[in-house]
Amino acid sequence: MPNPPKSGENPASVEAAAAILRAGRVCAFPTETVYGLGADATNPDAVLAIYETKGRPRFNPLIVHCADRAMAGVVAVFSPLAESLAQRFWPGPLTLVLPLRPDAGIVDLVTAGLDTVGVRIPAHPLARDLIRAVGRPLAAPSANPSGRLSPTTAAQVEAMFEGRVPVLDGGPASAGVESTILAVDGDAVTQLRAGAIGRDEIEAVLGRPVPVAAAGDPVAAPGMLASHYAPRARLRLDADAPLPGEAYLAFGRPAAPGEWTLSATGDLREAARTLFAALHEMDRTATAIAVAPIPRNGLGEAINDRLTRAAAPRDTR
Ligand code: TXA
Ligand code: MG
Repeated sequence: MPNPPKSGENPASVEAAAAILRAGRVCAFPTETVYGLGADATNPDAVLAIYETKGRPRFNPLIVHCADRAMAGVVAVFSPLAESLAQRFWPGPLTLVLPLRPDAGIVDLVTAGLDTVGVRIPAHPLARDLIRAVGRPLAAPSANPSGRLSPTTAAQVEAMFEGRVPVLDGGPASAGVESTILAVDGDAVTQLRAGAIGRDEIEAVLGRPVPVAAAGDPVAAPGMLASHYAPRARLRLDADAPLPGEAYLAFGRPAAPGEWTLSATGDLREAARTLFAALHEMDRTATAIAVAPIPRNGLGEAINDRLTRAAAPRDTR
């Protein structure tokens, strides 16, 4: 294992990033959804550093990223239903909230003291290589200051933390929105967060409807705050055209000069991949952004969820 790079330096390899993480420091790494701010999930000081780096409320638990099903089995208890979802969707952008194994060595701060844990096996090969090289599960929220836009490139992570966080660069994220979160309690399943796998796809696999947790439900994800994923610019949704002074984010047609588009052809997969990158980009110059209506089916559920939170009233920052 090489010496970890000095703080302020980005790791040039999986091994160098693993050395940072084994030394109990945080390191951002690529996943197929968004970049994660990783730390050894079994090291209390390392996990604390995630919360401090992000300015994240301590009651908001973290997702535990595993290299493979065997590692996930050390962390959580799988019911037959959870097992079939894991078989079908892992590695991939699905997080399962399952009963925590109390002997797993996961520090309390990761689960915010809950008796459940969110686990996933990322599809990005560098993420799995990294977890394997560290030899421990990695706790990782999205690699942005709390409440801000999630990063889909290493450059966005560097910009938002002003170079204070080392980043392993794995290219732009292919999915572009966070994982879908399902709570599985025995045979019962509830969607806690819309994400990169459409609910319709999960329902097709299970052959039954998947209910969505309402805000305030006992099983709801504590992290689903009203204002979240926010650019600095003000956001106006379901806008057919920009008003004077607004930058415009189109959908289903090419961008006119000075505009952006989520997908010229109306492809929701492309729109999900483009969403955060476009908002990051527009936020550099715009103070007000108008966004075209986005259909609500399939991945449109996650896209509209992120846009609604990004547009929600918030403290001026
Ligand atoms: O795609 C993703 O999921 C990304 C990448 C890095 O993997 N991660 C991510 O993490 O989006 P974060 O921290 O931004 O969102 C995690 C969400 C929060 O809303 C949190 O409340 C919820 O997962 N969560 C985690 N553990 C939970 C648990 N035991 N019960 C309920 N919700 C949980
Ligand atoms: Mg996040």
